[in-house]
Amino acid sequence: MNYLDQIDQHNVPKHVAIIMDGNGRWAKSQGKERIFGHFNGVEAVRASLKAATRAGVKYLTLYAFSLENWNRPKEEVDALMNLLVHTIMSEIDELDKNGVRLQTIGNIENLPLSCRAELEKGMERTKHHTTINLILALSYSARWEINQALRQIVASGISENEITDELISKHLTTAAFPDPELLIRTSGERRLSNFLLWQIAYAELYFTETLWPDFNEEDFYKAICDYQQRERRFGKTSEQLVSTDINSTTDTKL
Ligand code: IPE
Ligand code: IPE
Ligand code: MG
Repeated sequence: MNYLDQIDQHNVPKHVAIIMDGNGRWAKSQGKERIFGHFNGVEAVRASLKAATRAGVKYLTLYAFSLENWNRPKEEVDALMNLLVHTIMSEIDELDKNGVRLQTIGNIENLPLSCRAELEKGMERTKHHTTINLILALSYSARWEINQALRQIVASGISENEITDELISKHLTTAAFPDPELLIRTSGERRLSNFLLWQIAYAELYFTETLWPDFNEEDFYKAICDYQQRERRFGKTSEQLVSTDINSTTDTKL
């Protein structure tokens, strides 16, 4: 089955978010250390970015490291940070060549200086690109993000009735991006692990048993095809949707 050919070009999600999970189990299944799984996960990142670009997705957000992941053994955290720096260094020419704009979300200040420097260089170099946005969620926690948004809003002295959903969205680290229409999680886990809790209010969720290092282009297209079979109702009835574009965003007039 060639899933790319099955994709309806008029109904491609603008923003796809992925919880890249299962690297440790993949490595274990090969009798290797967890970090071996992380190294091999880079190929799946390349494949997803390529597939997202070919499918016409405009924003691809990858959950690469959660705020809670700082609690992993120091060797694993250090190895992940090194992997991040080396991957950006080795991939940046390719990203630049392919019109990819690199961006980040999360509590980036927590990252080692070497990571931040490499990320900032990469973001600066690619900031004019528009083919696709590759957004890395690093030291990311949705609750942290909502917490800091509320702090900013309170500090701005805004009055109670000026607080709208849009205002809250503007104070999140995702302020510049549309909400994801599709969220993919690999490795068979069916939880959100503190990822984009506000932004995925109406996202379609897609879970696959595939472990992240095995996730390939076809898997990505398959997820998009699955998404295109869903009826996004935004609280309305199926009958109401017949006369409207079912995948247009919600009309929130109550
Ligand atoms: C996802 O794979 C990568 C990160 C969280 C950094 P895991 O490392 O969580 O792999 P499993 O879930 O233990 O198999
Ligand atoms: C979520 O995966 C974070 C990332 C993919 C970066 P985890 O493997 O850390 O999530 P839990 O601990 O299983 O919920
Ligand atoms: Mg995991």
